[in-house]
Order: sequence, then C-alpha cells, then structure tokens
Amino acid sequence: MVRIALFGATGTIGSRVLREALERGHQVTAVVRDPAKLTERHPGLKVTTGDVLDPASVAAAAEGQDVVVSAVGGGDGPGHVATIEPAAKSLVAGVRSLGAMAPRLIAVGGAGSLRTPAGTKVWDAEGIPEFLLQIMHAHGDALDYYRTVSDVRWTNLSPAGTIEPGERTGAYRTALEDLVVDEQGVSRISAEDYAVALVDEIETPKHVGERFTVGY
Ligand SMILES: NC(=O)c1ccc[n+]([C@@H]2O[C@H](COP(=O)([O-])OP(=O)(O)OC[C@H]3O[C@@H](n4cnc5c(N)ncnc54)[C@H](OP(=O)(O)O)[C@@H]3O)[C@@H](O)[C@H]2O)c1
Repeated sequence: MVRIALFGATGTIGSRVLREALERGHQVTAVVRDPAKLTERHPGLKVTTGDVLDPASVAAAAEGQDVVVSAVGGGDGPGHVATIEPAAKSLVAGVRSLGAMAPRLIAVGGAGSLRTPAGTKVWDAEGIPEFLLQIMHAHGDALDYYRTVSDVRWTNLSPAGTIEPGERTGAYRTALEDLVVDEQGVSRISAEDYAVALVDEIETPKHVGERFTVGY
C-alpha cells in the first residue's frame, strides 16, 4: 500500500488516477480547493483542502505521504500559464521542505514538447490554435524547470497527443521523448489507461528524474 497525496482529484485525469489508485488498495488523500466538488467515496480516501500554488499547502499535504501526484490544469491558455510552471515550482518547494522525509513527486505533463515521427516537436505543427500553444508551452516550461531539480525525486508523465475518458484496457506503451503513435500514426490514450500507467509508475518506479510518455 502506497500513501498518495493527489492534487487535481476532481479533474478529468485526476479523477481516473484517484479511482485507479483506490482500486489497487492505495491510501489516497485528495487535496482539493472545494471538497464539495469531490463525489468519490471510498474507505481508502481522505479529503483535505489545499492549493497547489502554495508551497506551505503542498508541504502540509505531502507530510507523511510516499508520493505526491499533481494532475492540475489551468483551464484556458492563460490559466495554464498562470498554473502549470508555478505549480511545478510550488510542488518542488513544498516537497523539498520535508528534507529526508520528502515523498516522490509525479506530475501530469503535456505532449507538446514530444518529438514526432517526423523529427519535429508536436508544438511545431502548423495550425495549432494559440490557446493550445500556450497550454503546451506552459507544460514545456514546467518540464524545463523540473529538469533543473536534482534534490527531489520528480517524474513528469506526458499524455499521448489525445487523452480522453474511455476504456480501461490496462495496455499501453511508453517512451521517453518520442510521441507514442499507433500503426495508423495516431497518438492517443484513454484517461483510464493513462491512470494505469501513472499508478504503475507509483508502484514500480522506473522514471525518477525524467519525463516519460504513454500511448497505445
Ligand atoms: N495531450 C496532452 O498533453 C494533454 C491533454 C489533456 C490534458 N493535459 C494536461 O493534464 C492536466 C490535467 O488535465 P484535465 O483535463 O484532467 O484537467 P481538468 O479536468 O481541468 O482538472 C484540473 C484539476 O486541477 C485542479 N486545480 C487547478 N488549479 C488548482 C490549484 N491551484 N490547487 C489545487 N487544484 C487545482 C482543479 O481543481 P478544481 O476542481 O478546484 O477546479 C481540477 O481538479 C492539465 O495540466 C492538462 O494540460 C495534457
């Protein structure tokens, strides 16, 4: 059993991570801004209030945990710019403040900075709307920041190009810097299988201090 503090538990991806972790018998503390929004009930679930942008809040949530998971988002483009890299810095500062007792940190990332089969980055494609570019680069900036951190055991997990609620198959493939594409050249993963990959990484750490990605 792993003790997990989860930011973003009310979100599309975070709610799947929450369910996957609980179903595998882990103890999850959901750290939410508004507990009324969290409808999940489970004997392994505790709920506490907190703000990922406040390092003291992160430290309080992280104390006594084995892993802190962040699945936070910022809504639109400017919201992501205001949330994602600041959250990375706050998460690292909060976790780091626990010193030798600091838990691991696993954050949901973005696909924009991944390399495509053509050798370009996803975010270099033509015709990407400005708000999506802002979201992609917010995740890219956060990843650049994580890569400067060597005293916290961080992992950044980029979804496939498309991630949507769907089926839990339990099957997925991973890569480090390359977008995972299927035989048709499509990069996708269900939010449920993304959660499987993330909880697998919690149970069996393979990517401490690096980014990896998951797709079919
Ligand atoms: N292909 C891709 O690369 C791809 C695709 C989809 C998503 N993503 C990324 O995955 C992440 C999660 O996406 P999603 O669709 O699951 O997001 P979402 O449904 O919008 O959920 C966002 C979550 O973040 C929480 N949150 C936001 N600010 C917070 C704060 N200051 N303190 C605590 N919690 C906060 C929200 O809580 P409240 O309930 O309080 O608002 C909510 O639970 C995002 O960063 C998104 O950019 C990447």
